[in-house]
Amino acid sequence: MTSPSTTLSLVDTDPAELAVDAIVIGLHSQNPGTVEQTGAASGPETGARDPGRGVDLAETLLLATGAESIAAAFDGRLTATLALLGATGGPGEVIKLATLGTVTAPLVVAVGLGPEPSGAAPAPETLRRAAASAVRALAGCERVALTLPLPDDEDAPAALRATAEGALLGAYRFAGYKTRPQPSRRSPVESVAVHVPDANDARARAEITRAAVVAGAVGRTRDWVNTPPNELRPPSFADSVAAAAREAGLTVEVLDEQALAAGGYGGILAVGLGSAAPPRLVKLSYQPASAGPDAAARRIALVGKGITFDTGGVSIKPAQGMWEMKSDMAGAAAVAAAMLAVAELKPSVAVSGYLPMAENMPSGSSYRPGDVVTMYNGKRVEVLNTDAEGRMVLGDAMARACEDGCDYLIETSTLTGGQVVALGKRMAGVMGSAEFCQRVQAAGEATGEPAWPMPLPDDVRKGMDSEVADISQVNASMDRAGHMLQGGVFLREFVADDVPWAHIDIAGPSYHSGEPTGHWSKGGTGVPVRTLLELVDDIAANG
Ligand code: BES
Ligand code: ZN
Ligand code: MN
Repeated sequence: MTSPSTTLSLVDTDPAELAVDAIVIGLHSQNPGTVEQTGAASGPETGARDPGRGVDLAETLLLATGAESIAAAFDGRLTATLALLGATGGPGEVIKLATLGTVTAPLVVAVGLGPEPSGAAPAPETLRRAAASAVRALAGCERVALTLPLPDDEDAPAALRATAEGALLGAYRFAGYKTRPQPSRRSPVESVAVHVPDANDARARAEITRAAVVAGAVGRTRDWVNTPPNELRPPSFADSVAAAAREAGLTVEVLDEQALAAGGYGGILAVGLGSAAPPRLVKLSYQPASAGPDAAARRIALVGKGITFDTGGVSIKPAQGMWEMKSDMAGAAAVAAAMLAVAELKPSVAVSGYLPMAENMPSGSSYRPGDVVTMYNGKRVEVLNTDAEGRMVLGDAMARACEDGCDYLIETSTLTGGQVVALGKRMAGVMGSAEFCQRVQAAGEATGEPAWPMPLPDDVRKGMDSEVADISQVNASMDRAGHMLQGGVFLREFVADDVPWAHIDIAGPSYHSGEPTGHWSKGGTGVPVRTLLELVDDIAANG
């Protein structure tokens, strides 16, 4: 289902002479407070006036660095023309302008960057969103060049990385299942050239190579999440992941229902009981060929929730919006895609991915509220709500990861509606070892996948004491207070004592129900695959 991939390159020749279908420039909005209102300001009279405010609209716009030669070709009339077309320079705005021979490309496209940060280049995330918005709006064009304001100091690599990633993310398109092609849907841009000072610079080339791998991982995650749940049940999801992983050269282990029973994976089995499609646990491993002296000792475990559809089971969910629970395997998809990217990027740390997969269905064979389940690490759990299935499958997988041995454990899951209530649809919640959570937050910040640390309070654990077992799956009186935190507190029971760990709850940010905007496509977003890859890099470099 992978969408046709867009190719990336670097270019350093004059943007005005590039033989492409469209050239994208940046446009800042100027703070109206700083705009002179007397008409005595520089530049020719533009004809774009806001009579109500007495403002020459061209003066509320500022072309970003990189647009110089295009502006020169327009004889100083580019800003005025953009103002006439209604440009404001606001973030996400895309204004297309036919060049009528002024420059080689037939189209100049101004993408809004918001106000120019004082004395600095735009933040990487601003560039990531702008590049994505522009490339999405240019569907139907074959070749596009971006000449956006990239800094030329030590921030240059991060800015280039973000721009390149954004361009590819904006070109993402889920192939879908329509029986006929739709004439109104134009094909994604085929190639994107990013304008830089020196196209042969080794660091710059490395950045776009990495951006292509990272964006590929995002696209894979999105494709798996967007695949309908009848097409992706645990056995077929496991097969799809295993096939891709073997091809990438990873070591693959797939536990089927018999192996899970023999191994004592009580949580995964319990959730899988209600479905005719049996559960799986997939383990993927990457071993570095040449581990650096420090990193050699480091082993990272990634664990992702793979509920291919979550009806809630016997504790069934309301029908409204239930179809979105096809995305309840977003964590597993991100971990699988991150592992495939790791196989390409070849970091100097060992990385293993654990994907517990099950379909949570109500039936005569389902697990039920009141059941006591013995988990992989021997702990006994009292089930109170079959809809809290994620922590059941994850507890087993996390205990297995710790048994195999790991120095860091990162788990990610669409675990609680409470995450969405607390932090919204963009910001993930992070729980676990305090210091490590801060590294996760920093990685999210760097990659445009924001995350916020949340606590694991003692009283929340106390509320999960069970009358009959070691722990209840949720608060024993079904109190939803601190709902997201209950998930984190429960998962902590399955992490070995001295392993730094983090639980990233992505219930909100992993799925975008609205219209595409910036680098978020409709449906699966790919969150948090970029964070996972950034953390792998961070641990490889810094231990
Ligand atoms: N998969 C859901 C959480 C979810 C909700 C993901 C909304 C994405 C969007 C999870 O399995 C679930 O049902 N959680 C329950 C937990 C409760 C029963 C303790 C919830 O959020 O209500
Ligand atoms: Zn779920
Ligand atoms: Mn559920």
